[in-house]
Amino acid sequence: MITITIRSAARAAVAGVLLASPLVAVAVAAPAQADTPAYEDAARPVPQRVADLLGRMTLAEKVGQMTQAERASIDSDPSIIASDNLGSVLSGGGSVPTPNTPTAWADMVDRYQRAALASRLHIPILYGIDTVHGDGNMYGATVFPHNIGLGATRDPALVAAAEHVAASETRSTGPQWAFAPCICVARDDRWGRTYESFGETPALVEQMETAIDGLQGRPGQLKDNDRVLATAKHFAGDGLTTYGTGSNDQTTGNYPIDQGVDQVDRATFDRLALAPYVPAVQQHHVGSVMPSYSDVQFTGDTTRTNMHGNRDLITGWLKGKEGFDGFVISDYNGIDHIQPGAGTTFEQRVVLGVNAGIDMFMQPSNFADFEAALTDAVNTGQVSMARIDDAVSRILTKKFELGLFEHPYTDRTQLPEVGDAAHRAIARRAVQESQVLLRNRKHALPIRRNGGTIYVAGSNADNIGNQSGGWTLTWQGGSTNVIPGTTILQGIRQHAGHARVTYSATASAPVPHGATGVVVVGETPYSEGFGDVNGPQWAYDPGDHNVPRPVKDMQLSSADKSAVDRVCAAAAKCIVVVVSGRPLQIDPKQLKETDALVAAWLPGSEGEGVADDLFGTAHYTGTLPVTWPRTVAQEPINVGDPNYDPLYAYGFGLRT
Ligand code: BGC
Repeated sequence: MITITIRSAARAAVAGVLLASPLVAVAVAAPAQADTPAYEDAARPVPQRVADLLGRMTLAEKVGQMTQAERASIDSDPSIIASDNLGSVLSGGGSVPTPNTPTAWADMVDRYQRAALASRLHIPILYGIDTVHGDGNMYGATVFPHNIGLGATRDPALVAAAEHVAASETRSTGPQWAFAPCICVARDDRWGRTYESFGETPALVEQMETAIDGLQGRPGQLKDNDRVLATAKHFAGDGLTTYGTGSNDQTTGNYPIDQGVDQVDRATFDRLALAPYVPAVQQHHVGSVMPSYSDVQFTGDTTRTNMHGNRDLITGWLKGKEGFDGFVISDYNGIDHIQPGAGTTFEQRVVLGVNAGIDMFMQPSNFADFEAALTDAVNTGQVSMARIDDAVSRILTKKFELGLFEHPYTDRTQLPEVGDAAHRAIARRAVQESQVLLRNRKHALPIRRNGGTIYVAGSNADNIGNQSGGWTLTWQGGSTNVIPGTTILQGIRQHAGHARVTYSATASAPVPHGATGVVVVGETPYSEGFGDVNGPQWAYDPGDHNVPRPVKDMQLSSADKSAVDRVCAAAAKCIVVVVSGRPLQIDPKQLKETDALVAAWLPGSEGEGVADDLFGTAHYTGTLPVTWPRTVAQEPINVGDPNYDPLYAYGFGLRT
């Protein structure tokens, strides 16, 4: 009893509770279970637990909960998590354990968690990662089509199933939080993040918000070992920036459109940028929202406002009007984008960001500076204690809902299922349904398996890195990023039956008489502004610094064009498959010689799904999630535009 009293007294003192009255003393000497602080009592309602814990926290502990560091900054000394009271850790793109295996991931997150639990109040960390097409950072994960392909399926149930698998592979290997889905509405295909969008209309994006349900489950299911907290991003208008207004981020270079400025009237912004957040919050109860790096400058405004400092939209609209009750996580060093070049200091940006309504700050390496700045801002009255308590309550609420206080460590029950056949079967179905058949003359598709030769060519026929795109093993992805799965060529070989398959990437090998030609062309991987048309011609990536990359121009490369020309000139039937994160310009010459044209998007690890449709074991049912322009000069081009004259309209897709 004495021990209990002392421990209770210590806890109460820590919480700032005065043990002046005998009544309190009686209370602390109560039976053993009464000694459990309310916040550690799973039987109590979450709001009670939050209030109790909040009441025990010091300012430093509260500020810490609002802080997120990148794993590379704490990996060599995870005790920083407790000493700096960090509330969260993330893996940025390509920031992975060694070896990069599911078990090593779970071990790593558990190691950080152990460090967090050593803190005074034992508050678990929340670990976040970009599960944007499956847990693409992790070798062995099932890698799904990027969102543009999922949008083409027009199949919300399938999208929920895919994201459920993605959630399971993420949670069973440690992270409990996905920075996904992007509910961006991509209005200009020159944007390097077009493939992260489900499509160019808010209606389609909203239809695909079942992704949130797949990640989080129904309300109450966040605790389950196969669900993660989701993030609707990037709030708002990331896909609506004007070409030519891009990046204000001096550290990563100048992008023509990514991170640019939305120059529209408020009604257009409401319709194309804000609308998808209404169902995300109200129907799907998304747990977190990430502001956009972009700015808004409504018609008539004299200045532009960065979304990270946009109090009207974050606090006024999102939290106030729409009732968002989760928490807002800033993007990677996102507050650096507030008032760039205006002489604004880091400390001022912290104040502007937190007062705008950001609750947690992604400060990968300068988290200590952030904590110092925020603490100072509270002490000098620039940020109110009420704002801090609101932010911390929102974060703690999600931690309780995720069950982290009861089960802080990774539940590995489903870890053996990472990348297994059942998961890959769902990804393969997503690939099948995402294929869009744009042209089919001479019944070129489906390919008939009646002997002869299938001649396969093109830069993307046998490259799993290219078909997976950005956010695969590394931030930018890469042609040499090899992951378990099948390439499109491997899929074709599996289907070929008695036909002979000849493969010549550049089509330099002779094309046999009567052959069926399949030329798989398209883009090499990129992410964010590096994928902007006429953006930087190099990529910045950990371990891959300033590597030259082909300029992004929405055209076929000259090697791919000549492969199409060669194969189509000689083959009996000529099928062109475009593997890309957006529509590419198909010159009239190439189009004329092509019998069938397929948009395969970025299918991910299951290239067989592309072959399933080519050979007719699955049917083409996908329809365009974005308008397919005739030329790049038509950008931005979207359904509903005056004088709309695309090569293929939004929603188009032939069936087999
Ligand atoms: C991206 C976000 C991403 C974050 C963390 C940023 O560069 O804009 O979408 O979630 O990095 O990796």
